Amino acid sequence: MRQVARLGRGAVLGLLLAVHAVAAFEPITVGIAIGAATALTGYLSYTDLYCRFAECCREKQPLNASALKLELEEKLFGQHLATEVILKALTGFKNNKNPKKPLTLSLHGWAGTGKNFVSQIVAEHLHSKGLRSNFVHLFVSTLHFPHEQQIKLYQDQLQGWIRGNVSACASSVFIFDEMDKLHPGVIDAIKPFLDYYEQVDGVSYRKAIFIFLSNAGGDLITKIALDFWRAGRKREDIQLKDLEPVLSVGVFNNKHNT
Ligand SMILES: Nc1ncnc2c1ncn2[C@@H]1O[C@H](COP(=O)(O)OP(=O)(O)O)[C@@H](O)[C@H]1O
Ligand SMILES: *[C@@H]1O[C@H](CO)[C@@H](O)[C@H](O)[C@H]1NC(C)=O
Ligand SMILES: *[C@@H]1O[C@H](CO)[C@@H](O)[C@H](O)[C@H]1NC(C)=O
Repeated sequence: MRQVARLGRGAVLGLLLAVHAVAAFEPITVGIAIGAATALTGYLSYTDLYCRFAECCREKQPLNASALKLELEEKLFGQHLATEVILKALTGFKNNKNPKKPLTLSLHGWAGTGKNFVSQIVAEHLHSKGLRSNFVHLFVSTLHFPHEQQIKLYQDQLQGWIRGNVSACASSVFIFDEMDKLHPGVIDAIKPFLDYYEQVDGVSYRKAIFIFLSNAGGDLITKIALDFWRAGRKREDIQLKDLEPVLSVGVFNNKHNT
């Protein structure tokens, strides 16, 4: 018994010592880190310093297209078409100083084909914190808008959120997962933001990005891939025009953006 008690006391002491050691070292390490960073980058403006610690919405921050291309090609398998379309749409949109409407990307495919995976990569290249960013918003139909009786509430809420967030950060990103399960009433609430309006109630939505993910049409895409496979052609040979009937709402606005 006494043995155990002594052991216990020893352990407590060890813990206290450790806490002291951390307290003693912490300020020094922090001091060094900041000194080193300043020495490396030279002069830091207040905004730079601020944005280093808090997240900033940098509307004009260019997209590093080659980095996005590299990551998509490296991590996303078997989706050369999606990679191509997404790259083209995003670079076109981000290089356009004066887009006429927000960018709408619509990704179709079966569950587990990487729609969320792609959105996450894209989000990270637009706002470096990705889905954890204050400027990236993910809505899942069955999670955020589950009850049919409350559609009116959802509509008002969602419109308020989109308005509020785009006012705070014009390049906000909104991702809607499970579009095929989203109530038409809620879809109607989103539509006004996707159009060519210069401004709606003093807010311009033209720099925002909306990404819609849905399982609808997945069976059609699979059927086309299967037909190609049966005909002995490689998946990479599928051209965009082969999929056009399926992707009729694919990237439905980038034609008018330039
Ligand atoms: N084409 C793909 N290339 C690489 N990984 C993929 C691909 N499709 C799916 N995955 C993996 O499967 C996981 C689930 O995919 P997810 O994006 O959630 O599918 P979806 O949103 O289409 O239902 C992803 O986190 C990813 O790791
Ligand atoms: C873009 O990304 C590439 C590859 O990751 C990198 O080498 C390059 O420095 C980046 N360019 C800019 C301007 O950040
Ligand atoms: C931004 O959107 C989130 C939901 O993603 C919401 O909780 C928040 O209230 C919105 N912000 C504003 C200012 O409307």
